[in-house]
Amino acid sequence: MMGREVQRVGVIGAGAMGRGIAQVCAAAGCSVQLFDTAKEAVARARDAVGGDLARGVAKGRLSQEDADATLARIQPANELRDMSDCELLVEAIVEKLEVKQQLFRELEATVRPDCILATNTSSLSVTAIAAACEHPGRVAGWHFFNPVPRMRLVEVIQAPRTSAETVEALVELSTRVGHRAIVASDSPGFVVNHAGRAFVTEGLKLLSECVAEHSMLDAILRNCAGFRMGPFELLDLTGLDVSVPVMESIHAQYYGDDRYRPVTLARTRLMAGLLGRKSGQGFYSYGSRGGGAAPVPQPPAIPAEAALWWPTEGPAALPETITSLLPAARRATEPRHADVIFLAPLGADLSTTAAQLQLDAAKVIAIDPVFAGTSGVTLMACPATAASTVMAARATFAAQSVLTFVISDTPGYVASRVVACIVNLACEMAQQGIASPADIDVAVRLALGYPAGPFEWGDRLGAARVLQILEGLHATFGDQRYRPSPWLVRRARLSLPLSAPDRQN
Ligand SMILES: NC(=O)c1ccc[n+]([C@@H]2O[C@H](COP(=O)([O-])OP(=O)(O)OC[C@H]3O[C@@H](n4cnc5c(N)ncnc54)[C@H](O)[C@@H]3O)[C@@H](O)[C@H]2O)c1
Repeated sequence: MMGREVQRVGVIGAGAMGRGIAQVCAAAGCSVQLFDTAKEAVARARDAVGGDLARGVAKGRLSQEDADATLARIQPANELRDMSDCELLVEAIVEKLEVKQQLFRELEATVRPDCILATNTSSLSVTAIAAACEHPGRVAGWHFFNPVPRMRLVEVIQAPRTSAETVEALVELSTRVGHRAIVASDSPGFVVNHAGRAFVTEGLKLLSECVAEHSMLDAILRNCAGFRMGPFELLDLTGLDVSVPVMESIHAQYYGDDRYRPVTLARTRLMAGLLGRKSGQGFYSYGSRGGGAAPVPQPPAIPAEAALWWPTEGPAALPETITSLLPAARRATEPRHADVIFLAPLGADLSTTAAQLQLDAAKVIAIDPVFAGTSGVTLMACPATAASTVMAARATFAAQSVLTFVISDTPGYVASRVVACIVNLACEMAQQGIASPADIDVAVRLALGYPAGPFEWGDRLGAARVLQILEGLHATFGDQRYRPSPWLVRRARLSLPLSAPDRQN
């Protein structure tokens, strides 16, 4: 059938993913046969699809007629042989390599010679699954996200021997079922789970350095950077029993590359049973009446009196976005007359900057110049910053109804540091040819729900600034995790958009 449109689909495994894949294929007009070794699973899956379609009808998203026709197109298969006439078989069974290899071997013995065999695996090597087959050219990854009907992205994974026809047919069918397909080469985490590493691992790294408590880190990433939830809310939702093995597996699959190195506190908390929502206690507590993140306490909005000073030029100068939030009338003529000295270094921490500028370290406080606005600012103290300086700085913003989040000294603050790491990792993925910048941006927005794709975000912030943050982190920690990707460095040096290809055509 290669080169033609797939019409007859077989789905093996009728769990959360298999039923969703069956539903979207049937909704697109394909006839679907559904198989599961657990006999009651197929009936349960059809009921679940029927329920989802009924909700769609109730909300006016589709007609009763279409819902009935979609469900009627999903038929149970009693054994694998019943699906021998299918043009595509997709498996969504248990995540075990030998079981998937065994299944594909069995399928090859019964299916048409041109039938595509697709796997929905999220963490196994598609190459290893294909290697068990006599015709690896027909094997590819077709990786959906949960819940399939609503997460409208799918990764088509091309193993080294997957044929172009197989990829084309899956991309064409993906579009027909209403999903945006991105093509990626077979590599650990594919695109979405790879690109999503930086957010959580860097959040954990910040926590392990005691830069702030988890609730403060989450609040900064939500309020200042616009993420829907912070890394610790996300970890609690997924559960450390799932997340920690994924982090460790990706780190191992990249031969211990420091970019992916998890922090020890994640495994310690997993061993302690602090899994997250599912165990009632993770980073947050979840009682019968809900739980989770609470707002970060803010100082009262009393009139602020302190004399302020901030530089208008040099490496720690405050940008307009921040000075516009500060009362110009209270700006002292010189730093020595000020109670509070605001600085905005980007490539160094506050301690280093205060020492270099020979300022009174008790009076200095830094402010993240990249992610600051009326929805919140991140203030950063150094070990010498007086408590009264912090209080006066917060009061100044409280008087303008701007939330403040106070952290300890680190280069790159919180939001800037996390986003710089996200951009850097995406650049490295492009450099390795895993997927195109455009596809990585789409995948991250659709599947991870970030406010922007890493390349568009990096361009918005400016490649040079992102590079400055990473160089500051690299120099401070001497950790290879922060080494800037050559993709980022070259585009920053040449003032090119981050999506610019390696060569002009
Ligand atoms: N759940 C997710 O969020 C998600 C997202 C993307 C990909 N995936 C991948 O999709 C696959 C399925 O995940 P799921 O969450 O739907 O699992 P699930 O446990 O909900 O369903 C798996 C189903 O497969 C059946 N099964 C197991 N071994 C079988 C076999 N040898 N032959 C036929 N049926 C068999 C089980 O009876 C079960 O009904 C896994 O590879 C998983 O990694 C899951």
